[in-house]
Amino acid sequence: MKGIILAGGAGSRLYPLTLVASKQLQPVYDKPMVYYPLTTLIEGGIREFCLISTPHDLPRFRQLLGDGSRFGVTIDYREQEKPAGIAQAFLIAESFIGKDSVTLILGDNIFYGGDAFGRAFGEFKSGATIFGYHVNDPERYGVVEFDANGQAISIEEKPKQPKSNYAVPGLYIYDNTVLDIVKNQKPSARGELEITDVNVSYLKRGQLRVQRLTRGFAWLDAGTSSSLHEASAYVQTIEKRAGVKIGCPEEASFRAGIMSLAQLEETTDKMPNCEYRAYLNDVVAEAKRLKNQK
Ligand code: G1P
Repeated sequence: MKGIILAGGAGSRLYPLTLVASKQLQPVYDKPMVYYPLTTLIEGGIREFCLISTPHDLPRFRQLLGDGSRFGVTIDYREQEKPAGIAQAFLIAESFIGKDSVTLILGDNIFYGGDAFGRAFGEFKSGATIFGYHVNDPERYGVVEFDANGQAISIEEKPKQPKSNYAVPGLYIYDNTVLDIVKNQKPSARGELEITDVNVSYLKRGQLRVQRLTRGFAWLDAGTSSSLHEASAYVQTIEKRAGVKIGCPEEASFRAGIMSLAQLEETTDKMPNCEYRAYLNDVVAEAKRLKNQK
Protein backbone atom coordinates (compact mmCIF):
# COMPACT_ATOMS: atom_id res chain seq x y z
CA MET A 1 0.00 0.00 0.00
CA LYS A 2 1.37 3.40 -1.05
CA GLY A 3 0.74 6.59 0.91
CA ILE A 4 -0.05 10.05 -0.43
CA ILE A 5 0.01 13.13 1.76
CA LEU A 6 -1.80 16.05 0.17
CA ALA A 7 -0.50 19.31 1.55
CA GLY A 8 -1.68 21.84 -1.01
CA GLY A 9 -4.10 24.73 -0.89
CA ALA A 10 -3.66 28.42 -0.32
CA GLY A 11 -4.36 28.29 3.41
CA SER A 12 -6.28 31.51 3.00
CA ARG A 13 -8.32 30.93 6.15
CA LEU A 14 -5.11 31.17 8.19
CA TYR A 15 -3.86 34.41 6.61
CA PRO A 16 -1.47 36.08 7.58
CA LEU A 17 0.08 32.95 9.20
CA THR A 18 0.29 31.36 5.77
CA LEU A 19 2.03 34.24 4.00
CA VAL A 20 5.44 32.59 4.29
CA ALA A 21 4.71 29.03 5.44
CA SER A 22 1.84 26.89 4.24
CA LYS A 23 -0.87 25.60 6.53
CA GLN A 24 0.61 22.10 6.92
CA LEU A 25 3.92 23.59 8.09
CA GLN A 26 2.32 25.53 10.95
CA PRO A 27 3.07 24.30 14.45
CA VAL A 28 0.53 22.12 16.19
CA TYR A 29 1.89 22.45 19.71
CA ASP A 30 5.45 21.10 19.36
CA LYS A 31 5.69 19.86 15.78
CA PRO A 32 4.82 20.94 12.25
CA MET A 33 1.28 19.93 11.30
CA VAL A 34 2.39 17.51 8.56
CA TYR A 35 4.16 15.34 11.17
CA TYR A 36 0.75 14.17 12.41
CA PRO A 37 -0.66 12.71 9.17
CA LEU A 38 2.78 11.29 8.35
CA THR A 39 2.80 9.56 11.73
CA THR A 40 -0.74 8.24 11.25
CA LEU A 41 0.27 6.42 8.07
CA ILE A 42 3.61 5.20 9.46
CA GLU A 43 1.74 3.77 12.46
CA GLY A 44 -0.35 1.83 9.96
CA GLY A 45 2.82 0.35 8.47
CA ILE A 46 3.09 2.45 5.30
CA ARG A 47 6.67 2.91 4.09
CA GLU A 48 6.43 4.57 0.68
CA PHE A 49 5.16 8.12 0.51
CA CYS A 50 4.46 10.80 -2.02
CA LEU A 51 3.93 14.31 -0.72
CA ILE A 52 2.04 16.70 -2.97
CA SER A 53 2.11 20.44 -2.52
CA THR A 54 2.21 23.70 -4.45
CA PRO A 55 5.35 24.60 -6.45
CA HIS A 56 5.91 27.38 -3.93
CA ASP A 57 5.73 25.22 -0.80
CA LEU A 58 7.20 21.94 -2.03
CA PRO A 59 10.86 22.96 -1.40
CA ARG A 60 10.02 23.64 2.25
CA PHE A 61 8.47 20.20 2.73
CA ARG A 62 11.57 18.70 1.15
CA GLN A 63 13.71 20.69 3.56
CA LEU A 64 11.61 19.49 6.49
CA LEU A 65 11.22 15.80 5.66
CA GLY A 66 14.04 15.07 3.21
CA ASP A 67 13.99 11.71 1.49
CA GLY A 68 12.26 10.15 4.50
CA SER A 69 15.28 8.07 5.56
CA ARG A 70 15.30 9.85 8.93
CA PHE A 71 12.00 8.07 9.55
CA GLY A 72 12.95 4.82 7.85
CA VAL A 73 10.61 5.50 4.90
CA THR A 74 10.87 6.94 1.39
CA ILE A 75 9.26 10.23 0.41
CA ASP A 76 8.79 11.39 -3.20
CA TYR A 77 7.60 14.89 -3.95
CA ARG A 78 5.18 16.05 -6.63
CA GLU A 79 3.78 19.46 -7.50
CA GLN A 80 0.13 20.36 -7.71
CA GLU A 81 0.38 23.36 -9.97
CA LYS A 82 -3.16 24.54 -9.47
CA PRO A 83 -5.58 23.46 -6.76
CA ALA A 84 -7.97 21.39 -8.88
CA GLY A 85 -9.39 19.19 -6.14
CA ILE A 86 -8.29 16.44 -3.76
CA ALA A 87 -8.88 13.66 -6.29
CA GLN A 88 -6.37 15.26 -8.66
CA ALA A 89 -3.70 13.89 -6.30
CA PHE A 90 -4.12 10.42 -7.84
CA LEU A 91 -3.39 11.73 -11.33
CA ILE A 92 -0.35 13.66 -10.11
CA ALA A 93 0.96 10.59 -8.27
CA GLU A 94 0.03 8.04 -10.96
CA SER A 95 3.58 6.83 -11.64
CA PHE A 96 4.25 6.65 -7.89
CA ILE A 97 1.12 4.54 -7.29
CA GLY A 98 1.98 2.14 -10.13
CA LYS A 99 -0.15 -0.98 -9.77
CA ASP A 100 -0.60 -0.71 -6.00
CA SER A 101 -3.47 0.24 -3.76
CA VAL A 102 -3.15 3.63 -2.15
CA THR A 103 -4.17 5.59 0.88
CA LEU A 104 -4.54 9.35 0.75
CA ILE A 105 -4.37 11.51 3.84
CA LEU A 106 -4.96 15.24 3.97
CA GLY A 107 -2.07 17.17 5.46
CA ASP A 108 -4.26 19.07 7.90
CA ASN A 109 -6.09 16.09 9.41
CA ILE A 110 -4.95 15.07 12.87
CA PHE A 111 -5.98 11.72 14.30
CA TYR A 112 -5.34 10.20 17.67
CA GLY A 113 -6.31 6.96 19.40
CA GLY A 114 -6.82 3.30 18.57
CA ASP A 115 -5.52 1.39 15.57
CA ALA A 116 -8.56 1.54 13.29
CA PHE A 117 -6.43 2.66 10.34
CA GLY A 118 -3.69 0.08 10.80
CA ARG A 119 -6.34 -2.65 10.90
CA ALA A 120 -8.11 -1.22 7.86
CA PHE A 121 -4.82 -1.18 5.88
CA GLY A 122 -4.12 -4.77 6.91
CA GLU A 123 -7.62 -6.00 6.00
CA PHE A 124 -7.89 -4.03 2.78
CA LYS A 125 -8.22 -6.13 -0.37
CA SER A 126 -10.17 -4.19 -2.99
CA GLY A 127 -12.68 -1.41 -3.54
CA ALA A 128 -12.55 1.52 -1.17
CA THR A 129 -12.54 2.01 2.59
CA ILE A 130 -13.41 5.35 4.13
CA PHE A 131 -14.47 6.35 7.62
CA GLY A 132 -17.32 8.12 9.36
CA TYR A 133 -16.87 10.31 12.42
CA HIS A 134 -19.67 11.91 14.44
CA VAL A 135 -19.33 15.71 14.46
CA ASN A 136 -21.31 18.69 15.53
CA ASP A 137 -21.00 20.55 12.22
CA PRO A 138 -21.34 17.98 9.40
CA GLU A 139 -22.19 20.65 6.81
CA ARG A 140 -18.47 21.53 6.67
CA TYR A 141 -17.51 18.08 5.38
CA GLY A 142 -18.38 15.15 3.17
CA VAL A 143 -21.39 13.58 4.93
CA VAL A 144 -22.28 9.90 4.90
CA GLU A 145 -25.78 8.57 5.52
CA PHE A 146 -26.33 5.04 6.86
CA ASP A 147 -29.38 2.78 6.67
CA ALA A 148 -30.78 0.83 9.62
CA ASN A 149 -28.24 -1.96 9.01
CA GLY A 150 -25.32 0.43 9.18
CA GLN A 151 -24.78 0.32 5.39
CA ALA A 152 -23.73 3.59 3.75
CA ILE A 153 -26.45 4.74 1.35
CA SER A 154 -25.40 8.25 0.36
CA ILE A 155 -22.45 10.64 0.52
CA GLU A 156 -22.75 14.34 -0.11
CA GLU A 157 -20.10 17.06 -0.15
CA LYS A 158 -20.83 19.92 2.27
CA PRO A 159 -24.63 19.57 2.11
CA LYS A 160 -26.72 22.46 3.42
CA GLN A 161 -29.05 19.94 5.02
CA PRO A 162 -26.87 17.04 6.16
CA LYS A 163 -28.59 13.65 6.29
CA SER A 164 -26.52 12.59 9.30
CA ASN A 165 -23.89 13.80 11.74
CA TYR A 166 -21.25 11.52 10.23
CA ALA A 167 -18.48 13.42 8.48
CA VAL A 168 -15.93 11.69 6.26
CA PRO A 169 -12.42 12.37 7.59
CA GLY A 170 -9.51 13.02 5.25
CA LEU A 171 -8.12 9.49 5.10
CA TYR A 172 -9.19 7.33 2.16
CA ILE A 173 -8.07 3.85 1.08
CA TYR A 174 -8.50 2.80 -2.55
CA ASP A 175 -7.57 -0.03 -4.84
CA ASN A 176 -5.83 0.73 -8.12
CA THR A 177 -9.10 1.35 -9.99
CA VAL A 178 -9.15 4.79 -8.36
CA LEU A 179 -6.95 5.90 -11.28
CA ASP A 180 -9.58 4.94 -13.87
CA ILE A 181 -12.34 6.44 -11.77
CA VAL A 182 -10.60 9.80 -11.51
CA LYS A 183 -9.61 9.82 -15.18
CA ASN A 184 -13.29 9.50 -16.12
CA GLN A 185 -14.49 12.00 -13.55
CA LYS A 186 -15.82 15.45 -14.43
CA PRO A 187 -14.94 18.50 -12.32
CA SER A 188 -17.70 19.73 -10.00
CA ALA A 189 -19.49 23.06 -10.27
CA ARG A 190 -16.59 24.69 -8.40
CA GLY A 191 -14.17 23.25 -10.97
CA GLU A 192 -12.62 20.60 -8.73
CA LEU A 193 -12.14 16.84 -8.94
CA GLU A 194 -14.04 16.03 -5.76
CA ILE A 195 -12.99 13.20 -3.48
CA THR A 196 -16.66 12.77 -2.58
CA ASP A 197 -17.41 11.93 -6.25
CA VAL A 198 -14.74 9.21 -6.11
CA ASN A 199 -16.44 7.76 -3.04
CA VAL A 200 -19.86 7.96 -4.71
CA SER A 201 -18.45 6.02 -7.70
CA TYR A 202 -17.30 3.22 -5.40
CA LEU A 203 -20.65 3.33 -3.56
CA LYS A 204 -22.54 2.91 -6.86
CA ARG A 205 -20.37 -0.09 -7.75
CA GLY A 206 -21.17 -1.62 -4.35
CA GLN A 207 -17.48 -1.47 -3.42
CA LEU A 208 -17.41 1.15 -0.70
CA ARG A 209 -16.85 0.24 2.92
CA VAL A 210 -17.52 2.97 5.47
CA GLN A 211 -16.19 2.22 8.90
CA ARG A 212 -17.47 4.27 11.79
CA LEU A 213 -14.77 5.57 14.11
CA THR A 214 -15.78 4.98 17.68
CA ARG A 215 -16.05 7.44 20.53
CA GLY A 216 -12.74 8.04 22.19
CA PHE A 217 -11.09 8.43 18.84
CA ALA A 218 -10.02 12.00 18.13
CA TRP A 219 -10.19 13.62 14.73
CA LEU A 220 -9.11 17.23 14.81
CA ASP A 221 -9.23 19.82 12.14
CA ALA A 222 -6.60 22.55 12.10
CA GLY A 223 -7.78 24.71 9.24
CA THR A 224 -8.83 27.86 11.09
CA SER A 225 -6.99 29.92 13.72
CA SER A 226 -9.20 28.69 16.51
CA SER A 227 -9.21 25.01 15.47
CA LEU A 228 -5.41 25.24 15.10
CA HIS A 229 -5.18 26.58 18.61
CA GLU A 230 -7.55 23.89 19.92
CA ALA A 231 -5.54 21.16 18.21
CA SER A 232 -2.38 22.47 19.88
CA ALA A 233 -4.10 22.56 23.27
CA TYR A 234 -5.37 19.01 22.79
CA VAL A 235 -1.91 17.68 21.89
CA GLN A 236 -0.33 19.51 24.80
CA THR A 237 -2.92 18.16 27.24
CA ILE A 238 -2.44 14.52 26.20
CA GLU A 239 1.35 14.74 25.94
CA LYS A 240 1.67 16.34 29.37
CA ARG A 241 -0.70 13.94 31.04
CA ALA A 242 0.54 10.71 29.47
CA GLY A 243 4.18 11.53 28.87
CA VAL A 244 3.91 10.26 25.29
CA LYS A 245 4.06 12.21 22.08
CA ILE A 246 1.37 12.37 19.44
CA GLY A 247 2.63 12.77 15.88
CA CYS A 248 6.21 11.61 16.36
CA PRO A 249 7.12 9.81 13.10
CA GLU A 250 10.48 8.51 14.38
CA GLU A 251 8.86 6.77 17.33
CA ALA A 252 5.95 5.49 15.20
CA SER A 253 8.39 4.02 12.70
CA PHE A 254 10.29 2.22 15.44
CA ARG A 255 7.11 0.87 17.06
CA ALA A 256 5.73 -0.27 13.69
CA GLY A 257 8.91 -2.28 13.17
CA ILE A 258 10.01 -0.13 10.24
CA MET A 259 13.12 1.34 11.92
CA SER A 260 15.38 -0.74 14.11
CA LEU A 261 16.42 0.42 17.57
CA ALA A 262 19.90 1.16 16.21
CA GLN A 263 18.40 3.33 13.44
CA LEU A 264 16.22 5.18 15.91
CA GLU A 265 19.23 5.86 18.09
CA GLU A 266 21.24 7.09 15.12
CA THR A 267 18.44 9.41 14.01
CA THR A 268 18.04 10.75 17.54
CA ASP A 269 21.76 11.37 17.95
CA LYS A 270 21.72 13.73 14.97
CA MET A 271 19.13 16.04 16.57
CA PRO A 272 20.07 19.22 18.39
CA ASN A 273 19.59 19.25 22.13
CA CYS A 274 15.89 19.85 22.60
CA GLU A 275 12.84 18.42 24.27
CA TYR A 276 12.00 16.33 21.18
CA ARG A 277 15.42 14.67 21.32
CA ALA A 278 15.15 14.11 25.07
CA TYR A 279 11.82 12.35 24.50
CA LEU A 280 13.28 10.05 21.85
CA ASN A 281 16.31 9.37 24.05
CA ASP A 282 13.86 8.11 26.68
CA VAL A 283 12.13 5.90 24.09
CA VAL A 284 15.54 4.45 23.13
CA ALA A 285 16.60 3.94 26.76
CA GLU A 286 13.33 2.19 27.63
CA ALA A 287 13.56 -0.08 24.57
CA LYS A 288 17.13 -1.01 25.53
CA ARG A 289 16.09 -1.77 29.09
CA LEU A 290 13.30 -4.07 27.87
CA LYS A 291 15.67 -5.77 25.41
CA ASN A 292 18.21 -6.46 28.16
CA GLN A 293 15.53 -7.99 30.37
CA LYS A 294 14.84 -10.70 27.81
C1 G1P B 1 -12.28 17.93 2.31
C2 G1P B 1 -13.28 17.01 1.62
C3 G1P B 1 -14.39 16.60 2.58
C4 G1P B 1 -13.80 16.01 3.84
C5 G1P B 1 -12.77 16.97 4.46
C6 G1P B 1 -12.02 16.32 5.62
O1 G1P B 1 -12.88 19.17 2.57
O2 G1P B 1 -13.78 17.64 0.46
O3 G1P B 1 -15.25 15.66 1.97
O4 G1P B 1 -14.82 15.70 4.77
O5 G1P B 1 -11.78 17.36 3.50
O6 G1P B 1 -11.11 17.21 6.23
P1 G1P B 1 -12.00 20.53 2.65
O7 G1P B 1 -11.17 20.40 3.89
O8 G1P B 1 -11.14 20.54 1.44
O9 G1P B 1 -12.98 21.63 2.72
